[in-house]
Amino acid sequence: MALSISPYCKLVLAILSVSAAATTLCLNTDTTDNTKPDSIGRASTTNAEFLSTHNAARQQVGVPPLTWNVRLARYAKAYAVQRRGDCQLVHSPGYTYGENIFWGQGHRWTAAEAVGAWVAENQWYHYDNNSCSGPDCSHYTQVVWRTTEQLGCAKITCATGDTFVVCEYYPPGNYIGARPYKKKPVNP
Ligand SMILES: *[C@@H]1O[C@H](CO)[C@@H](O)[C@H](O)[C@H]1NC(C)=O
Repeated sequence: MALSISPYCKLVLAILSVSAAATTLCLNTDTTDNTKPDSIGRASTTNAEFLSTHNAARQQVGVPPLTWNVRLARYAKAYAVQRRGDCQLVHSPGYTYGENIFWGQGHRWTAAEAVGAWVAENQWYHYDNNSCSGPDCSHYTQVVWRTTEQLGCAKITCATGDTFVVCEYYPPGNYIGARPYKKKPVNP
Protein backbone atom coordinates (compact mmCIF):
# COMPACT_ATOMS: atom_id res chain seq x y z
CA MET A 1 0.00 0.00 0.00
CA ALA A 2 1.29 3.41 -0.92
CA LEU A 3 2.14 5.85 1.81
CA SER A 4 0.79 9.34 1.57
CA ILE A 5 1.28 12.30 3.82
CA SER A 6 -1.97 13.28 5.42
CA PRO A 7 -2.84 16.96 5.27
CA TYR A 8 -4.47 16.44 8.68
CA CYS A 9 -2.03 18.50 10.70
CA LYS A 10 -1.79 21.25 8.13
CA LEU A 11 -4.97 23.13 8.82
CA VAL A 12 -3.53 26.22 10.42
CA LEU A 13 -1.49 28.71 8.49
CA ALA A 14 -0.92 32.43 8.30
CA ILE A 15 0.78 34.75 5.87
CA LEU A 16 2.22 38.26 5.85
CA SER A 17 3.52 40.48 3.07
CA VAL A 18 5.23 43.81 2.72
CA SER A 19 6.11 46.08 -0.14
CA ALA A 20 9.55 47.56 -0.01
CA ALA A 21 10.19 51.28 -0.09
CA ALA A 22 10.95 52.69 -3.50
CA THR A 23 14.64 53.03 -2.89
CA THR A 24 17.12 52.47 -5.64
CA LEU A 25 19.66 49.87 -4.72
CA CYS A 26 22.05 47.66 -6.47
CA LEU A 27 21.95 43.93 -6.17
CA ASN A 28 24.82 41.85 -7.51
CA THR A 29 23.49 39.84 -10.36
CA ASP A 30 26.63 37.79 -10.71
CA THR A 31 25.41 35.59 -7.86
CA THR A 32 22.35 34.46 -9.78
CA ASP A 33 22.27 30.71 -10.10
CA ASN A 34 20.01 27.72 -9.94
CA THR A 35 18.23 26.96 -13.04
CA LYS A 36 19.83 23.56 -12.50
CA PRO A 37 17.63 21.58 -10.18
CA ASP A 38 18.57 18.90 -7.69
CA SER A 39 22.26 18.50 -8.30
CA ILE A 40 23.18 19.36 -4.73
CA GLY A 41 20.40 17.75 -2.79
CA ARG A 42 17.50 18.84 -0.70
CA ALA A 43 18.01 22.60 -0.38
CA SER A 44 18.37 22.81 -4.11
CA THR A 45 15.20 20.78 -4.67
CA THR A 46 13.31 23.11 -2.37
CA ASN A 47 14.75 26.15 -4.14
CA ALA A 48 13.73 24.75 -7.50
CA GLU A 49 10.23 24.24 -6.12
CA PHE A 50 10.04 27.82 -4.86
CA LEU A 51 11.10 29.05 -8.27
CA SER A 52 8.88 26.81 -10.38
CA THR A 53 5.74 27.53 -8.36
CA HIS A 54 6.32 31.28 -8.63
CA ASN A 55 6.95 30.99 -12.34
CA ALA A 56 3.86 28.87 -12.94
CA ALA A 57 1.72 31.62 -11.37
CA ARG A 58 3.55 34.24 -13.42
CA GLN A 59 3.07 32.32 -16.63
CA GLN A 60 -0.69 32.26 -15.95
CA VAL A 61 -0.81 36.04 -16.32
CA GLY A 62 1.88 36.32 -18.98
CA VAL A 63 4.72 37.91 -17.02
CA PRO A 64 8.37 36.84 -17.41
CA PRO A 65 9.81 34.20 -15.09
CA LEU A 66 11.92 35.05 -12.04
CA THR A 67 15.47 33.84 -11.62
CA TRP A 68 16.91 32.48 -8.39
CA ASN A 69 19.36 34.75 -6.62
CA VAL A 70 21.62 33.24 -3.99
CA ARG A 71 22.11 36.57 -2.25
CA LEU A 72 18.36 36.94 -1.75
CA ALA A 73 18.22 33.33 -0.61
CA ARG A 74 21.00 33.96 1.91
CA TYR A 75 19.20 37.03 3.23
CA ALA A 76 16.00 34.97 3.55
CA LYS A 77 17.84 32.18 5.35
CA ALA A 78 19.58 34.56 7.73
CA TYR A 79 16.27 36.15 8.63
CA ALA A 80 14.47 32.80 8.99
CA VAL A 81 17.19 31.64 11.38
CA GLN A 82 16.58 34.75 13.49
CA ARG A 83 12.92 33.73 13.77
CA ARG A 84 13.71 30.12 14.65
CA GLY A 85 13.15 30.70 18.34
CA ASP A 86 9.69 32.27 18.16
CA CYS A 87 8.43 31.60 14.61
CA GLN A 88 6.63 34.96 14.71
CA LEU A 89 5.01 36.30 11.58
CA VAL A 90 7.08 39.47 11.56
CA HIS A 91 8.92 41.14 8.71
CA SER A 92 12.65 41.51 8.49
CA PRO A 93 13.93 44.99 9.33
CA GLY A 94 15.04 47.34 6.62
CA TYR A 95 12.43 46.90 3.88
CA THR A 96 15.17 46.31 1.39
CA TYR A 97 13.27 43.84 -0.75
CA GLY A 98 9.71 42.77 -1.30
CA GLU A 99 8.99 40.03 1.23
CA ASN A 100 6.33 37.34 1.67
CA ILE A 101 6.18 35.29 4.85
CA PHE A 102 4.32 32.08 5.59
CA TRP A 103 3.77 30.33 8.88
CA GLY A 104 2.23 26.84 9.08
CA GLN A 105 1.46 24.59 12.00
CA GLY A 106 3.73 21.54 12.02
CA HIS A 107 6.82 20.77 10.00
CA ARG A 108 5.36 19.13 6.93
CA TRP A 109 4.64 22.14 4.74
CA THR A 110 6.37 22.14 1.38
CA ALA A 111 7.67 25.12 -0.55
CA ALA A 112 4.89 24.58 -3.09
CA GLU A 113 2.23 24.70 -0.38
CA ALA A 114 3.54 27.95 1.05
CA VAL A 115 3.65 29.58 -2.37
CA GLY A 116 0.23 28.05 -3.08
CA ALA A 117 -1.20 29.83 -0.04
CA TRP A 118 0.03 33.13 -1.47
CA VAL A 119 -1.13 32.44 -5.00
CA ALA A 120 -4.60 31.40 -3.72
CA GLU A 121 -5.27 35.07 -3.03
CA ASN A 122 -5.82 35.45 -6.77
CA GLN A 123 -9.43 34.37 -6.11
CA TRP A 124 -9.98 37.82 -4.54
CA TYR A 125 -7.92 39.94 -6.85
CA HIS A 126 -9.83 41.94 -9.47
CA TYR A 127 -7.61 43.05 -12.28
CA ASP A 128 -10.15 45.41 -13.81
CA ASN A 129 -10.32 47.77 -10.84
CA ASN A 130 -7.03 46.62 -9.26
CA SER A 131 -8.71 45.81 -5.96
CA CYS A 132 -8.93 42.96 -3.49
CA SER A 133 -12.27 41.66 -2.23
CA GLY A 134 -10.65 39.33 0.34
CA PRO A 135 -8.52 39.91 3.44
CA ASP A 136 -5.34 40.47 1.42
CA CYS A 137 -4.06 40.05 -2.12
CA SER A 138 -0.60 41.49 -1.68
CA HIS A 139 1.22 38.15 -1.47
CA TYR A 140 -0.26 37.19 -4.80
CA THR A 141 0.44 40.54 -6.43
CA GLN A 142 4.08 40.33 -5.29
CA VAL A 143 4.39 36.84 -6.77
CA VAL A 144 3.17 38.04 -10.18
CA TRP A 145 4.60 41.57 -10.08
CA ARG A 146 5.88 42.15 -13.60
CA THR A 147 8.96 44.21 -12.80
CA THR A 148 10.23 41.84 -10.12
CA GLU A 149 13.06 39.79 -11.61
CA GLN A 150 14.77 37.84 -8.86
CA LEU A 151 13.74 35.55 -6.04
CA GLY A 152 15.36 33.99 -3.01
CA CYS A 153 13.55 32.02 -0.31
CA ALA A 154 14.16 29.94 2.79
CA LYS A 155 12.11 27.40 4.71
CA ILE A 156 12.90 26.29 8.24
CA THR A 157 11.31 24.37 11.06
CA CYS A 158 11.11 26.59 14.14
CA ALA A 159 11.86 25.60 17.72
CA THR A 160 8.08 25.34 18.11
CA GLY A 161 8.03 22.57 15.49
CA ASP A 162 6.15 24.79 13.04
CA THR A 163 7.15 25.90 9.56
CA PHE A 164 8.44 29.37 8.66
CA VAL A 165 8.89 30.38 5.04
CA VAL A 166 10.20 33.69 3.77
CA CYS A 167 10.73 34.85 0.18
CA GLU A 168 12.56 38.00 -0.89
CA TYR A 169 11.85 39.79 -4.17
CA TYR A 170 13.99 42.17 -6.19
CA PRO A 171 13.09 44.66 -7.47
CA PRO A 172 10.23 44.80 -4.97
CA GLY A 173 6.60 44.93 -6.09
CA ASN A 174 3.34 46.22 -4.68
CA TYR A 175 3.77 49.87 -5.47
CA ILE A 176 0.68 51.70 -4.32
CA GLY A 177 -1.68 52.50 -7.15
CA ALA A 178 0.19 50.42 -9.72
CA ARG A 179 -1.08 47.23 -11.25
CA PRO A 180 1.03 44.09 -10.86
CA TYR A 181 0.98 43.38 -14.57
CA LYS A 182 -0.63 44.51 -17.80
CA LYS A 183 -3.12 42.30 -19.50
CA LYS A 184 -2.33 41.60 -23.09
CA PRO A 185 -4.68 43.48 -25.40
CA VAL A 186 -7.34 41.28 -26.94
CA ASN A 187 -6.75 40.67 -30.64
CA PRO A 188 -9.18 42.67 -32.76
C1 LIG B 1 -13.93 45.56 -8.27
O1 LIG B 1 -14.54 44.68 -9.17
C2 LIG B 1 -15.12 43.50 -8.58
C3 LIG B 1 -15.59 42.60 -9.69
O2 LIG B 1 -16.38 43.28 -10.60
C4 LIG B 1 -16.20 43.93 -7.61
O3 LIG B 1 -16.76 42.80 -7.01
C5 LIG B 1 -15.60 44.85 -6.56
O4 LIG B 1 -16.60 45.32 -5.70
C6 LIG B 1 -14.89 46.02 -7.21
N1 LIG B 1 -14.19 46.75 -6.17
C7 LIG B 1 -14.12 48.08 -6.12
C8 LIG B 1 -13.35 48.67 -4.99
O5 LIG B 1 -14.67 48.80 -6.95
